Amino acid sequence: MKTTKLEKYRPVLHFSPNRNWMNDPNGLVFFKGEYHLFFQHNPFDNIHGPMYWGHAVSKDLVEWEELDIALFPDELGTIFSGSAVVDWHNTSGFFPDEPGLVAIFTHHLEGTENNPTKQSQSLAYSRDRGRTWVKYEGNPVLTHPTKVDFRDPKVFWHEASNKWMMVLATGQTVSFYSSPNLKEWKFESEFGDGIGSHDGVWECPDLFELSIDNSGIKKWVLLVSIGDNPRFDSGSRTQYFVGSFDGNQFVAENNDIKWLDFGKDNYAGVSFSDIPQADGRRIYIGWMSNWRYANHVPTEGWRSQMTLPRELMLRKVDGDTIVVQKVVGELNSYFSKQEELNGVTISGEMDNSYEVDADYAEVELTLENVNASQYGLTIWHTKTQFTTITIDTNENRLSLDRKNSGKVDFSDNFPKTQTVNLKGTIRIQLRIIIDTSSLELFINDGEQALTSLVYPDKACEGISLFAVKGNVNLVHGKISVPSN
Ligand code: FRU
Repeated sequence: MKTTKLEKYRPVLHFSPNRNWMNDPNGLVFFKGEYHLFFQHNPFDNIHGPMYWGHAVSKDLVEWEELDIALFPDELGTIFSGSAVVDWHNTSGFFPDEPGLVAIFTHHLEGTENNPTKQSQSLAYSRDRGRTWVKYEGNPVLTHPTKVDFRDPKVFWHEASNKWMMVLATGQTVSFYSSPNLKEWKFESEFGDGIGSHDGVWECPDLFELSIDNSGIKKWVLLVSIGDNPRFDSGSRTQYFVGSFDGNQFVAENNDIKWLDFGKDNYAGVSFSDIPQADGRRIYIGWMSNWRYANHVPTEGWRSQMTLPRELMLRKVDGDTIVVQKVVGELNSYFSKQEELNGVTISGEMDNSYEVDADYAEVELTLENVNASQYGLTIWHTKTQFTTITIDTNENRLSLDRKNSGKVDFSDNFPKTQTVNLKGTIRIQLRIIIDTSSLELFINDGEQALTSLVYPDKACEGISLFAVKGNVNLVHGKISVPSN
Protein backbone atom coordinates (compact mmCIF):
# COMPACT_ATOMS: atom_id res chain seq x y z
CA MET A 1 0.00 0.00 0.00
CA LYS A 2 1.06 3.58 -0.60
CA THR A 3 1.65 4.49 3.03
CA THR A 4 3.72 7.57 2.40
CA LYS A 5 2.14 10.30 0.39
CA LEU A 6 4.64 11.78 -1.97
CA GLU A 7 2.32 14.27 -3.58
CA LYS A 8 -0.21 16.65 -2.21
CA TYR A 9 -3.81 15.30 -2.18
CA ARG A 10 -2.74 11.83 -3.39
CA PRO A 11 -5.21 9.36 -1.83
CA VAL A 12 -4.03 6.36 0.16
CA LEU A 13 -7.05 4.04 -0.09
CA HIS A 14 -8.43 5.12 -3.45
CA PHE A 15 -7.13 4.36 -6.90
CA SER A 16 -5.59 7.35 -8.70
CA PRO A 17 -3.51 7.28 -11.89
CA ASN A 18 0.26 7.60 -11.50
CA ARG A 19 0.30 10.45 -13.97
CA ASN A 20 -2.11 12.61 -15.94
CA TRP A 21 -5.83 12.50 -16.48
CA MET A 22 -8.40 9.83 -15.59
CA ASN A 23 -12.20 9.68 -15.83
CA ASP A 24 -14.68 6.78 -15.98
CA PRO A 25 -13.86 3.27 -14.76
CA ASN A 26 -13.99 0.88 -17.73
CA GLY A 27 -13.87 -2.87 -18.30
CA LEU A 28 -14.27 -3.86 -14.64
CA VAL A 29 -13.78 -7.62 -14.65
CA PHE A 30 -12.48 -10.36 -12.35
CA PHE A 31 -10.33 -13.03 -13.98
CA LYS A 32 -7.83 -15.56 -12.63
CA GLY A 33 -7.56 -14.04 -9.17
CA GLU A 34 -7.24 -10.43 -10.31
CA TYR A 35 -9.65 -7.52 -10.36
CA HIS A 36 -9.07 -5.44 -13.47
CA LEU A 37 -9.76 -1.73 -13.49
CA PHE A 38 -9.40 -0.03 -16.87
CA PHE A 39 -10.02 3.68 -17.00
CA GLN A 40 -10.54 6.61 -19.36
CA HIS A 41 -7.07 8.06 -19.59
CA ASN A 42 -5.27 10.89 -21.34
CA PRO A 43 -1.62 9.87 -21.01
CA PHE A 44 -0.31 13.24 -22.26
CA ASP A 45 -1.99 15.79 -20.03
CA ASN A 46 -3.93 16.15 -16.82
CA ILE A 47 -7.09 17.34 -18.55
CA HIS A 48 -9.57 15.35 -20.64
CA GLY A 49 -8.26 14.82 -24.18
CA PRO A 50 -7.65 11.93 -26.55
CA MET A 51 -8.83 8.87 -24.68
CA TYR A 52 -6.91 5.64 -24.08
CA TRP A 53 -7.71 2.81 -21.69
CA GLY A 54 -5.36 2.90 -18.73
CA HIS A 55 -5.11 -0.31 -16.71
CA ALA A 56 -4.61 -1.40 -13.11
CA VAL A 57 -4.99 -4.72 -11.29
CA SER A 58 -5.67 -5.63 -7.69
CA LYS A 59 -5.99 -8.77 -5.62
CA ASP A 60 -8.11 -7.17 -2.90
CA LEU A 61 -9.86 -4.18 -4.56
CA VAL A 62 -7.93 -1.71 -2.40
CA GLU A 63 -4.27 -1.94 -3.34
CA TRP A 64 -3.89 -1.38 -7.10
CA GLU A 65 -0.92 -1.82 -9.39
CA GLU A 66 -0.99 0.32 -12.51
CA LEU A 67 0.05 -1.54 -15.66
CA ASP A 68 0.81 -0.40 -19.21
CA ILE A 69 -1.85 1.28 -21.28
CA ALA A 70 -4.27 -1.35 -22.61
CA LEU A 71 -6.02 0.29 -25.56
CA PHE A 72 -4.69 2.96 -27.92
CA PRO A 73 -6.58 5.13 -30.42
CA ASP A 74 -6.58 3.99 -34.06
CA GLU A 75 -8.08 5.08 -37.39
CA LEU A 76 -11.62 4.43 -36.06
CA GLY A 77 -11.13 6.90 -33.23
CA THR A 78 -10.09 7.34 -29.63
CA ILE A 79 -11.17 4.81 -26.99
CA PHE A 80 -14.22 5.88 -24.99
CA SER A 81 -15.90 3.97 -22.15
CA GLY A 82 -16.95 0.34 -22.24
CA SER A 83 -16.83 -2.99 -20.48
CA ALA A 84 -14.98 -6.31 -20.44
CA VAL A 85 -16.15 -9.91 -20.07
CA VAL A 86 -14.61 -13.34 -19.81
CA ASP A 87 -15.59 -15.41 -22.87
CA TRP A 88 -15.72 -18.74 -21.00
CA HIS A 89 -17.08 -20.80 -23.92
CA ASN A 90 -15.25 -19.16 -26.79
CA THR A 91 -18.45 -17.76 -28.31
CA SER A 92 -16.29 -15.16 -30.09
CA GLY A 93 -13.83 -17.63 -31.55
CA PHE A 94 -10.94 -15.53 -30.14
CA PHE A 95 -9.94 -18.24 -27.66
CA PRO A 96 -9.31 -21.64 -29.24
CA ASP A 97 -7.11 -22.75 -26.34
CA GLU A 98 -8.41 -21.27 -23.10
CA PRO A 99 -10.85 -18.57 -21.95
CA GLY A 100 -9.73 -14.95 -22.16
CA LEU A 101 -10.94 -11.37 -21.94
CA VAL A 102 -12.95 -9.39 -24.46
CA ALA A 103 -13.24 -5.61 -24.16
CA ILE A 104 -16.27 -3.96 -25.76
CA PHE A 105 -15.71 -0.22 -26.08
CA THR A 106 -16.73 2.89 -28.00
CA HIS A 107 -14.60 4.20 -30.83
CA HIS A 108 -15.05 7.97 -30.80
CA LEU A 109 -14.18 9.80 -33.99
CA GLU A 110 -14.30 13.54 -33.38
CA GLY A 111 -16.19 15.42 -36.09
CA THR A 112 -14.58 17.76 -38.59
CA GLU A 113 -16.10 20.52 -40.68
CA ASN A 114 -17.46 18.07 -43.23
CA ASN A 115 -17.97 14.96 -41.10
CA PRO A 116 -20.09 14.74 -37.97
CA THR A 117 -18.76 13.05 -34.83
CA LYS A 118 -19.08 9.27 -35.08
CA GLN A 119 -19.37 6.80 -32.20
CA SER A 120 -19.35 3.04 -32.81
CA GLN A 121 -18.77 -0.09 -30.73
CA SER A 122 -15.68 -2.23 -31.19
CA LEU A 123 -13.92 -5.26 -29.70
CA ALA A 124 -10.44 -6.11 -28.51
CA TYR A 125 -9.32 -9.38 -26.93
CA SER A 126 -6.53 -10.50 -24.66
CA ARG A 127 -5.11 -14.00 -24.27
CA ASP A 128 -2.63 -13.02 -21.55
CA ARG A 129 -4.73 -11.82 -18.59
CA GLY A 130 -5.22 -8.34 -19.98
CA ARG A 131 -1.52 -7.56 -20.42
CA THR A 132 -1.71 -7.14 -24.20
CA TRP A 133 -4.70 -6.58 -26.47
CA VAL A 134 -5.53 -7.28 -30.10
CA LYS A 135 -8.22 -5.24 -31.81
CA TYR A 136 -10.75 -7.32 -33.77
CA GLU A 137 -10.20 -6.91 -37.52
CA GLY A 138 -13.98 -6.68 -38.09
CA ASN A 139 -14.33 -3.46 -36.00
CA PRO A 140 -16.63 -1.67 -35.56
CA VAL A 141 -19.23 -4.28 -34.61
CA LEU A 142 -22.10 -1.85 -33.99
CA THR A 143 -22.82 1.50 -35.65
CA HIS A 144 -25.87 3.73 -35.97
CA PRO A 145 -26.82 5.64 -39.11
CA THR A 146 -27.92 8.83 -37.35
CA LYS A 147 -27.30 8.82 -33.58
CA VAL A 148 -24.30 10.88 -32.54
CA ASP A 149 -24.44 9.94 -28.84
CA PHE A 150 -24.06 6.18 -29.15
CA ARG A 151 -21.66 4.93 -26.54
CA ASP A 152 -20.51 3.22 -23.35
CA PRO A 153 -21.47 -0.43 -24.02
CA LYS A 154 -21.94 -2.60 -20.92
CA VAL A 155 -22.07 -6.26 -21.88
CA PHE A 156 -23.11 -9.27 -19.81
CA TRP A 157 -24.15 -12.88 -20.40
CA HIS A 158 -27.93 -13.24 -19.98
CA GLU A 159 -28.38 -16.72 -18.59
CA ALA A 160 -32.15 -16.99 -19.14
CA SER A 161 -32.01 -16.31 -22.87
CA ASN A 162 -28.55 -17.76 -23.44
CA LYS A 163 -27.07 -14.74 -25.20
CA TRP A 164 -24.89 -11.71 -24.66
CA MET A 165 -26.71 -8.48 -23.87
CA MET A 166 -25.44 -4.97 -24.38
CA VAL A 167 -26.91 -1.89 -22.76
CA LEU A 168 -25.81 1.24 -24.59
CA ALA A 169 -26.30 4.97 -23.98
CA THR A 170 -28.18 6.39 -26.94
CA GLY A 171 -28.78 10.11 -26.36
CA GLN A 172 -31.67 10.50 -23.91
CA THR A 173 -32.35 6.77 -23.75
CA VAL A 174 -30.54 3.47 -23.37
CA SER A 175 -30.82 0.74 -26.01
CA PHE A 176 -30.54 -3.01 -25.58
CA TYR A 177 -28.83 -5.25 -28.12
CA SER A 178 -28.20 -9.00 -28.07
CA SER A 179 -25.58 -11.24 -29.63
CA PRO A 180 -24.58 -14.92 -29.73
CA ASN A 181 -20.88 -14.15 -30.26
CA LEU A 182 -20.11 -10.52 -29.30
CA LYS A 183 -19.55 -9.73 -32.99
CA GLU A 184 -23.06 -9.53 -34.43
CA TRP A 185 -25.55 -7.42 -32.53
CA LYS A 186 -29.33 -7.30 -32.87
CA PHE A 187 -31.44 -4.39 -31.60
CA GLU A 188 -33.91 -5.47 -28.90
CA SER A 189 -35.53 -2.36 -27.43
CA GLU A 190 -35.05 1.17 -26.13
CA PHE A 191 -35.83 2.53 -22.66
CA GLY A 192 -36.07 6.00 -21.18
CA ASP A 193 -38.69 8.04 -23.01
CA GLY A 194 -40.75 9.98 -20.50
CA ILE A 195 -39.21 8.39 -17.42
CA GLY A 196 -36.36 9.36 -15.11
CA SER A 197 -34.20 12.46 -15.21
CA HIS A 198 -33.34 13.94 -18.60
CA ASP A 199 -31.34 16.84 -17.21
CA GLY A 200 -28.28 15.73 -19.17
CA VAL A 201 -27.12 13.30 -21.84
CA TRP A 202 -27.48 9.66 -20.76
CA GLU A 203 -24.12 7.93 -20.32
CA CYS A 204 -22.46 4.82 -18.90
CA PRO A 205 -25.45 2.52 -18.26
CA ASP A 206 -25.25 -0.77 -16.39
CA LEU A 207 -27.88 -3.48 -15.92
CA PHE A 208 -27.80 -6.35 -13.42
CA GLU A 209 -29.98 -8.44 -11.19
CA LEU A 210 -29.95 -8.21 -7.38
CA SER A 211 -31.82 -9.97 -4.56
CA ILE A 212 -33.88 -7.97 -2.10
CA ASP A 213 -32.24 -8.47 1.30
CA ASN A 214 -32.37 -12.18 1.97
CA SER A 215 -35.87 -12.66 0.59
CA GLY A 216 -34.82 -14.54 -2.54
CA ILE A 217 -36.87 -12.07 -4.59
CA LYS A 218 -34.81 -10.65 -7.44
CA LYS A 219 -35.15 -7.46 -9.43
CA TRP A 220 -33.15 -5.82 -12.18
CA VAL A 221 -31.36 -2.53 -11.59
CA LEU A 222 -30.53 -0.14 -14.41
CA LEU A 223 -27.91 2.52 -13.65
CA VAL A 224 -27.78 5.59 -15.90
CA SER A 225 -25.35 8.45 -15.43
CA ILE A 226 -26.49 11.83 -16.68
CA GLY A 227 -24.09 14.46 -17.93
CA ASP A 228 -23.54 17.93 -16.55
CA ASN A 229 -26.17 20.56 -17.24
CA PRO A 230 -25.07 24.11 -16.38
CA ARG A 231 -28.63 24.90 -15.22
CA PHE A 232 -28.29 22.69 -12.13
CA ASP A 233 -25.78 22.96 -9.27
CA SER A 234 -25.57 19.18 -9.00
CA GLY A 235 -23.50 18.77 -12.18
CA SER A 236 -23.10 15.21 -13.46
CA ARG A 237 -24.75 12.45 -11.41
CA THR A 238 -26.19 8.96 -11.53
CA GLN A 239 -29.81 7.78 -11.39
CA TYR A 240 -31.18 4.25 -11.24
CA PHE A 241 -34.33 2.33 -12.05
CA VAL A 242 -35.60 -0.86 -10.42
CA GLY A 243 -37.66 -3.27 -12.50
CA SER A 244 -37.68 -6.36 -14.66
CA PHE A 245 -35.74 -7.49 -17.71
CA ASP A 246 -36.50 -10.48 -19.93
CA GLY A 247 -33.66 -10.37 -22.45
CA ASN A 248 -35.66 -8.06 -24.68
CA GLN A 249 -37.12 -5.23 -22.61
CA PHE A 250 -36.51 -3.45 -19.33
CA VAL A 251 -39.67 -2.36 -17.51
CA ALA A 252 -39.23 0.03 -14.59
CA GLU A 253 -41.48 -0.28 -11.57
CA ASN A 254 -40.60 3.12 -10.14
CA ASN A 255 -41.81 6.42 -11.59
CA ASP A 256 -39.85 8.64 -9.23
CA ILE A 257 -36.26 9.69 -9.85
CA LYS A 258 -33.82 7.71 -7.74
CA TRP A 259 -30.28 9.04 -7.24
CA LEU A 260 -27.50 6.63 -6.47
CA ASP A 261 -25.48 9.20 -4.56
CA PHE A 262 -26.36 12.58 -3.05
CA GLY A 263 -22.82 13.89 -3.19
CA LYS A 264 -21.34 15.60 -6.19
CA ASP A 265 -18.43 13.28 -6.69
CA ASN A 266 -19.60 9.92 -7.89
CA TYR A 267 -20.15 9.59 -11.62
CA ALA A 268 -20.10 7.05 -14.46
CA GLY A 269 -19.91 4.14 -12.04
CA VAL A 270 -20.39 0.58 -13.26
CA SER A 271 -20.08 -2.91 -11.82
CA PHE A 272 -17.65 -5.81 -12.18
CA SER A 273 -18.26 -8.67 -14.55
CA ASP A 274 -17.48 -12.30 -13.73
CA ILE A 275 -17.30 -12.12 -9.95
CA PRO A 276 -17.29 -15.85 -9.04
CA GLN A 277 -20.67 -17.24 -8.04
CA ALA A 278 -19.33 -18.37 -4.69
CA ASP A 279 -18.61 -14.71 -3.92
CA GLY A 280 -21.84 -13.48 -5.48
CA ARG A 281 -21.36 -9.76 -4.83
CA ARG A 282 -22.25 -7.00 -7.26
CA ILE A 283 -19.26 -4.70 -6.86
CA TYR A 284 -19.37 -1.16 -8.14
CA ILE A 285 -16.75 1.58 -8.64
CA GLY A 286 -17.50 5.19 -9.66
CA TRP A 287 -15.33 8.03 -10.87
CA MET A 288 -14.97 10.31 -7.84
CA SER A 289 -15.39 13.62 -9.60
CA ASN A 290 -17.89 15.83 -11.39
CA TRP A 291 -17.73 17.14 -14.95
CA ARG A 292 -18.55 20.61 -13.60
CA TYR A 293 -15.04 21.02 -12.19
CA ALA A 294 -13.15 17.77 -12.90
CA ASN A 295 -10.62 19.47 -15.18
CA HIS A 296 -9.82 22.07 -12.51
CA VAL A 297 -9.35 20.15 -9.27
CA PRO A 298 -6.08 21.28 -7.67
CA THR A 299 -3.79 18.30 -8.16
CA GLU A 300 -0.58 18.52 -10.09
CA GLY A 301 0.75 15.96 -12.57
CA TRP A 302 -2.22 13.60 -12.02
CA ARG A 303 -5.95 14.13 -11.82
CA SER A 304 -8.95 12.20 -10.44
CA GLN A 305 -9.53 9.16 -8.30
CA MET A 306 -12.10 6.38 -8.09
CA THR A 307 -14.61 5.79 -5.29
CA LEU A 308 -13.92 2.90 -2.97
CA PRO A 309 -15.37 -0.33 -4.38
CA ARG A 310 -18.88 -0.78 -3.02
CA GLU A 311 -21.19 -3.74 -2.86
CA LEU A 312 -24.65 -2.90 -4.21
CA MET A 313 -27.71 -4.57 -2.71
CA LEU A 314 -31.47 -4.08 -2.75
CA ARG A 315 -33.49 -3.34 0.35
CA LYS A 316 -37.17 -2.70 0.95
CA VAL A 317 -37.59 0.56 2.86
CA ASP A 318 -41.13 1.83 3.55
CA GLY A 319 -42.49 -0.23 0.68
CA ASP A 320 -39.94 1.11 -1.77
CA THR A 321 -37.13 -1.02 -3.26
CA ILE A 322 -33.86 0.90 -3.10
CA VAL A 323 -30.21 0.26 -3.89
CA VAL A 324 -28.01 0.25 -0.79
CA GLN A 325 -24.23 0.54 -0.88
CA LYS A 326 -21.58 -0.87 1.38
CA VAL A 327 -17.85 -0.49 0.96
CA VAL A 328 -16.37 -3.93 0.32
CA GLY A 329 -15.28 -5.84 3.42
CA GLU A 330 -11.72 -6.06 2.06
CA LEU A 331 -11.23 -2.51 3.34
CA ASN A 332 -11.59 -3.60 6.97
CA SER A 333 -8.07 -4.98 7.16
CA TYR A 334 -6.70 -1.50 6.42
CA PHE A 335 -8.16 -0.20 9.67
CA SER A 336 -7.71 -0.88 13.35
CA LYS A 337 -9.85 0.49 16.11
CA GLN A 338 -8.61 3.60 17.85
CA GLU A 339 -11.47 4.43 20.11
CA GLU A 340 -14.93 3.22 21.05
CA LEU A 341 -17.42 5.88 22.26
CA ASN A 342 -20.53 4.73 24.08
CA GLY A 343 -23.36 6.41 25.91
CA VAL A 344 -22.14 10.00 25.56
CA THR A 345 -24.62 12.85 25.68
CA ILE A 346 -23.87 15.79 23.46
CA SER A 347 -25.22 19.16 24.37
CA GLY A 348 -24.55 22.62 23.04
CA GLU A 349 -22.33 23.59 25.96
CA MET A 350 -20.01 20.63 25.89
CA ASP A 351 -16.95 20.15 23.76
CA ASN A 352 -16.94 16.55 22.50
CA SER A 353 -13.71 16.45 20.58
CA TYR A 354 -11.65 13.42 19.65
CA GLU A 355 -8.14 13.57 18.36
CA VAL A 356 -7.55 11.40 15.30
CA ASP A 357 -4.36 12.51 13.55
CA ALA A 358 -4.21 9.98 10.70
CA ASP A 359 -3.58 9.75 6.95
CA TYR A 360 -7.00 8.18 6.64
CA ALA A 361 -9.76 7.30 9.08
CA GLU A 362 -13.18 5.79 9.50
CA VAL A 363 -15.83 7.24 11.79
CA GLU A 364 -18.98 5.35 12.71
CA LEU A 365 -21.69 7.03 14.77
CA THR A 366 -25.17 6.07 15.87
CA LEU A 367 -26.89 9.21 17.13
CA GLU A 368 -30.25 9.56 18.81
CA ASN A 369 -31.83 12.94 18.91
CA VAL A 370 -33.42 14.01 22.20
CA ASN A 371 -34.49 17.57 21.50
CA ALA A 372 -31.85 19.31 19.38
CA SER A 373 -32.80 21.46 16.39
CA GLN A 374 -29.57 20.54 14.63
CA TYR A 375 -26.78 18.10 15.36
CA GLY A 376 -23.85 16.51 13.69
CA LEU A 377 -20.11 16.43 13.48
CA THR A 378 -17.17 18.46 12.30
CA ILE A 379 -14.25 16.76 10.67
CA TRP A 380 -11.16 18.79 11.47
CA HIS A 381 -8.69 18.25 8.66
CA THR A 382 -6.35 20.78 10.29
CA LYS A 383 -6.88 23.45 12.98
CA THR A 384 -8.42 25.78 10.40
CA GLN A 385 -9.70 23.50 7.65
CA PHE A 386 -12.88 21.57 8.39
CA THR A 387 -15.94 19.92 6.87
CA THR A 388 -19.26 19.94 8.69
CA ILE A 389 -22.04 17.38 8.49
CA THR A 390 -25.28 18.77 9.93
CA ILE A 391 -28.61 17.06 10.48
CA ASP A 392 -31.45 19.55 10.58
CA THR A 393 -34.38 18.09 12.47
CA ASN A 394 -36.93 20.62 11.20
CA GLU A 395 -35.93 20.33 7.59
CA ASN A 396 -35.43 16.55 7.83
CA ARG A 397 -32.21 17.02 5.97
CA LEU A 398 -28.51 16.25 6.19
CA SER A 399 -26.05 18.66 4.67
CA LEU A 400 -22.34 18.49 4.07
CA ASP A 401 -20.54 21.81 3.99
CA ARG A 402 -17.04 21.79 2.51
CA LYS A 403 -16.52 25.50 2.00
CA ASN A 404 -13.88 25.64 4.76
CA SER A 405 -12.33 22.28 3.93
CA GLY A 406 -9.17 23.62 2.27
CA LYS A 407 -8.68 24.50 -1.38
CA VAL A 408 -12.09 25.32 -2.87
CA ASP A 409 -11.54 28.37 -5.05
CA PHE A 410 -10.85 26.50 -8.31
CA SER A 411 -14.60 26.42 -9.00
CA ASP A 412 -17.63 28.51 -7.93
CA ASN A 413 -19.66 25.38 -7.69
CA PHE A 414 -17.32 23.33 -5.49
CA PRO A 415 -17.97 25.12 -2.16
CA LYS A 416 -21.77 24.83 -2.41
CA THR A 417 -23.50 22.70 0.23
CA GLN A 418 -24.53 19.16 -0.64
CA THR A 419 -27.76 17.86 0.90
CA VAL A 420 -29.76 14.68 1.38
CA ASN A 421 -33.41 14.53 2.42
CA LEU A 422 -33.75 12.07 5.29
CA LYS A 423 -36.57 9.70 6.17
CA GLY A 424 -36.25 10.65 9.84
CA THR A 425 -33.92 12.37 12.27
CA ILE A 426 -34.70 10.63 15.56
CA ARG A 427 -32.01 8.03 15.11
CA ILE A 428 -29.35 8.09 12.46
CA GLN A 429 -26.37 5.94 11.72
CA LEU A 430 -23.40 7.42 9.87
CA ARG A 431 -20.27 5.84 8.49
CA ILE A 432 -17.65 8.15 7.04
CA ILE A 433 -14.46 7.10 5.34
CA ILE A 434 -11.96 9.92 5.24
CA ASP A 435 -9.00 9.74 2.86
CA THR A 436 -6.47 12.39 1.87
CA SER A 437 -8.87 14.23 -0.42
CA SER A 438 -12.29 12.67 -0.06
CA LEU A 439 -15.14 11.84 2.29
CA GLU A 440 -17.52 8.97 1.63
CA LEU A 441 -20.57 9.11 3.84
CA PHE A 442 -23.04 6.24 4.19
CA ILE A 443 -26.30 6.86 6.02
CA ASN A 444 -28.29 4.13 7.81
CA ASP A 445 -26.27 1.17 6.69
CA GLY A 446 -25.82 2.42 3.13
CA GLU A 447 -29.42 3.42 2.36
CA GLN A 448 -28.11 6.78 1.22
CA ALA A 449 -24.61 7.76 0.17
CA LEU A 450 -22.88 11.12 -0.15
CA THR A 451 -19.50 11.15 -1.84
CA SER A 452 -17.50 14.34 -1.70
CA LEU A 453 -14.03 15.47 -2.64
CA VAL A 454 -12.14 17.83 -0.32
CA TYR A 455 -8.68 19.36 -0.69
CA PRO A 456 -7.31 19.99 2.82
CA ASP A 457 -3.63 20.03 3.82
CA LYS A 458 -4.18 16.89 5.86
CA ALA A 459 -6.79 14.12 5.93
CA CYS A 460 -7.84 14.35 9.56
CA GLU A 461 -6.65 15.72 12.89
CA GLY A 462 -9.84 15.30 14.85
CA ILE A 463 -13.58 14.95 15.08
CA SER A 464 -16.01 16.96 17.16
CA LEU A 465 -19.69 16.38 17.77
CA PHE A 466 -22.28 19.09 18.30
CA ALA A 467 -25.91 19.62 19.19
CA VAL A 468 -27.79 22.91 18.83
CA LYS A 469 -30.56 23.97 21.24
CA GLY A 470 -30.85 20.59 22.92
CA ASN A 471 -29.26 17.23 23.44
CA VAL A 472 -28.30 14.24 21.36
CA ASN A 473 -27.18 10.82 22.57
CA LEU A 474 -24.22 9.17 21.00
CA VAL A 475 -25.52 5.62 21.33
CA HIS A 476 -22.47 4.12 19.77
CA GLY A 477 -19.36 5.47 18.12
CA LYS A 478 -16.14 4.12 16.76
CA ILE A 479 -13.08 5.79 15.30
CA SER A 480 -10.67 3.67 13.28
CA VAL A 481 -7.27 4.55 11.91
CA PRO A 482 -4.67 2.86 9.68
CA SER A 483 -3.60 -0.60 10.76
CA ASN A 484 0.06 -1.56 10.68
C1 FRU B 1 -18.73 9.86 -19.16
C2 FRU B 1 -18.18 9.98 -20.58
C3 FRU B 1 -18.63 8.80 -21.42
C4 FRU B 1 -17.57 8.73 -22.47
C5 FRU B 1 -16.33 9.12 -21.70
C6 FRU B 1 -15.33 9.90 -22.51
O1 FRU B 1 -17.99 10.52 -18.20
O2 FRU B 1 -18.59 11.20 -21.13
O3 FRU B 1 -19.94 8.92 -21.92
O4 FRU B 1 -17.47 7.45 -23.04
O5 FRU B 1 -16.76 9.91 -20.62
O6 FRU B 1 -14.12 10.05 -21.82
